[in-house]
Amino acid sequence: MNIEDTILFLRFNESVTISEAIHFKGSGVRIGSNTKIGVGAVFHANSIVLGSCAIGENCTIGNFSLIRENVVIGDNTKIGSHNSVEPHAQIGNRTRTQGHCMISEYSVIGDDVFLGPYFNNPADRTPGRTREPGEYKPDAAIIKDRARTGSHVVVLPGQIVEEDSFLGAGCILINSTSKNQVWFGNPARKFK
Ligand SMILES: CC(C)(COP(=O)(O)OP(=O)(O)OC[C@H]1O[C@@H](n2cnc3c(N)ncnc32)[C@H](O)[C@@H]1OP(=O)(O)O)[C@@H](O)C(=O)NCCC(=O)NCCS
Repeated sequence: MNIEDTILFLRFNESVTISEAIHFKGSGVRIGSNTKIGVGAVFHANSIVLGSCAIGENCTIGNFSLIRENVVIGDNTKIGSHNSVEPHAQIGNRTRTQGHCMISEYSVIGDDVFLGPYFNNPADRTPGRTREPGEYKPDAAIIKDRARTGSHVVVLPGQIVEEDSFLGAGCILINSTSKNQVWFGNPARKFK
């Protein structure tokens, strides 16, 4: 285990569970308190994992990616560089994200998913509106097992990208797909 240059943000009596064979590739990696990290996880330079997360075995967190609080990531999943994974998101096993993805709070992303660069599933139907405390209900799209997206895909709140679906580059998905379909365009339409 090489924890040189690593900053652990811990409060008194809090701990990070770090198994053996965890790798920190480069400086500036930060791990928050009460976070569990599986054996073989790799953290690239300047990646940040905030508190109370669970990072699976053999996961990779790319350069400059930010994993917010209470995120759960399964085994063998690779988070690309410059990603932002918002609080309470759940990401499955063997899933891969390319650079600059923005995975919204309370997202549910399945197993063996592929998210192309700049993917975003905004959770807020009415952005920027002032709300009473507790009124905001995040509603990020659900991305099911083996779904894949091209580059710059936006999936609007409340939609479900079903298993084995493919979303073409640049698509704005405003409806849910069915299994094994290809959609693209703005607004996205079923191609096949
Ligand atoms: C969706 C996709 C798989 C379709 O590929 P395909 O089946 O080979 O389709 P074609 O290239 O033959 O295009 C068929 C038609 O769809 C249109 N089309 C294809 N992809 C499109 C897209 N993403 N958005 C809008 N229209 C698209 C084409 O212009 C063509 O229209 P036409 O029949 O009027 O000429 C592909 O275009 C795509 O978007 N791939 C994603 C690439 C990517 O972002 N990779 C990032 C990985 S890191």
